[in-house]
Amino acid sequence: MQEYHYTARIYDPLLSSAVRPIRNRIVSLIKRYKYRSILDVCCGTGEQLKLLKEQGIEGVGVDLSEAMLKVAGRGKHKADCLNQDASQMEYGKETFDLAMTTFALHEKSPETARAIVEEMLRVTAKGGDILIVDYELSEKTSPLYKMLVYIIERIAGGEHYRNFRSYIDAGGLPALLKGTSLTEVKRYYFARHSIVLLLLRKEA
Ligand SMILES: C[S@@+](CC[C@H](N)C(=O)[O-])C[C@H]1O[C@@H](n2cnc3c(N)ncnc32)[C@H](O)[C@@H]1O
Repeated sequence: MQEYHYTARIYDPLLSSAVRPIRNRIVSLIKRYKYRSILDVCCGTGEQLKLLKEQGIEGVGVDLSEAMLKVAGRGKHKADCLNQDASQMEYGKETFDLAMTTFALHEKSPETARAIVEEMLRVTAKGGDILIVDYELSEKTSPLYKMLVYIIERIAGGEHYRNFRSYIDAGGLPALLKGTSLTEVKRYYFARHSIVLLLLRKEA
């Protein structure tokens, strides 16, 4: 997959500090709920898995971009990421206590995003959790941040931007999760209400 071929190397230097509060919150939630097996879906550069590893917490990731996976495999705390399509993963059903995906669903086509959510549900154990971080733009979002989100996504361009627009126009995460039997456990907002972190539980 050629996606992120040119941006993989600058992805963390550009975004790390802005997303660090979110990544830190994920680390604390994972510590609090003591998940034993963790999957990061569309793990990108593996930054979240590396932060977890720093704290002695192991997890695995999947991504389709060779360039992102290359970055994931570098550094002191190399992330354990495999080249797999998140919409049809090779893991068996109910393999993980926690499946998470951060900043990935908004850039996929509605069909792929839904397939990824369904795959996350399939590989998560009964009573296990699903954690999703993505944009949520509402009347509570600061207009400045809303504009920033549109600018960032516009720069990402092409299909990425078209998918982002469809995601927002269709109603974002609530629409994507409609019909799934997940119960909300926790919800946090970041960046002036432009980003949401949802922790959801699958039926036991
Ligand atoms: C915006 S990045 C997010 C990366 C990371 N989760 C983060 O928080 O920074 C989206 C990632 O989704 C990956 N991706 C796109 N389609 C995919 C698919 N079908 N299966 C697995 N990964 C995919 C891209 O390669 C990219 O690394």
